[in-house]
Amino acid sequence: MIAQPSTPLNEGKPALDFSVWMQERLARTEDALSRWVGINAPAGLGEAMRYAVLDGGKRLRPLLVWAAAEAVGGLAAATLRAGCAVELIHAYSLVHDDMPCMDNDTMRRGKPTVHVQFGEASALLAGDALQALAFELLLPEDDGIPCSMQAKLCRLLGAAAGSQGMAGGQAIDLASVGKQLSEAQLREMHRLKTGALLLGSVLMGAACNAQTDVRALAALTVYGQALGVAFQVVDDILDVVADSATLGKTAGKDAANDKPTFVSLLGLEAARAHAEQLRQQAHAALTRSGLADTQALGALADMVVQRTH
Ligand code: IPE
Ligand code: IPE
Ligand code: MG
Ligand code: MG
Ligand code: MG
Repeated sequence: MIAQPSTPLNEGKPALDFSVWMQERLARTEDALSRWVGINAPAGLGEAMRYAVLDGGKRLRPLLVWAAAEAVGGLAAATLRAGCAVELIHAYSLVHDDMPCMDNDTMRRGKPTVHVQFGEASALLAGDALQALAFELLLPEDDGIPCSMQAKLCRLLGAAAGSQGMAGGQAIDLASVGKQLSEAQLREMHRLKTGALLLGSVLMGAACNAQTDVRALAALTVYGQALGVAFQVVDDILDVVADSATLGKTAGKDAANDKPTFVSLLGLEAARAHAEQLRQQAHAALTRSGLADTQALGALADMVVQRTH
């Protein structure tokens, strides 16, 4: 087959200042989260919820929602809510991931983990409440978001977070301690435990316009899948090569907990090469998408693979 000349993607668009783009979306996200999380919760629960969510984190998932939604011309009110909702699910997954019954970590986002700070019962409940709040945010009574769009966003988030997504992947992770997995099994674990929520972020962004066409959706799906696995491959690499101060979480925990990772299976260099291959797959999918402006999505794929924390 003769390769088609690649479409001059983003042609005619002014070059994106990604840093400015990102700061603006981060500011909107932080402001909304601080207004919505843990307000009026009783008996110290709100404090634990806010501790888990605010003042930390790269907010990659909301940024993906924004980038995908803007690429398809999505509804702004839905985009803001979808980005916050997926970040709440992510934050809850981290609170539970760090608990003694899972990875038993004491540091997260540069501070003591939620169970260290507030106790295990509060950490469990904070996670529960964050998960519930995520869905509540997606179902506002008065924000001008069509009911069918609200339902779609809930379905996508539920699928990404549940037994066929993050929670299922975490179950595989725990069942795999001390085991040698094949590359296919490892990829499946990463696809679920981390990839599903990242793909879900992209698909939720795309769902902020009910008219997003099938070609764009198919390309965004491939983009989200590649980026999702790349993210966890890089997380595995950083666990080995970075220090705890840079990561804001304890480095070297995968080996200490005897977890199978891309680094333990393939070695550092092959893991790095694999992440780069996935980055290129993500870019190739954007080129095929037919979308007019995918600069932010492209920059986020680069950020995922080139990040240092
Ligand atoms: C860490 O995610 C947990 C994984 C899914 C690997 P992030 O690296 O996105 O964590 P924050 O949100 O920036 O703290
Ligand atoms: C966590 O993976 C994935 C989640 C669903 C939270 P890790 O256990 O590798 O995440 P870190 O390294 O603790 O952030
Ligand atoms: Mg874990
Ligand atoms: Mg962990
Ligand atoms: Mg990790």
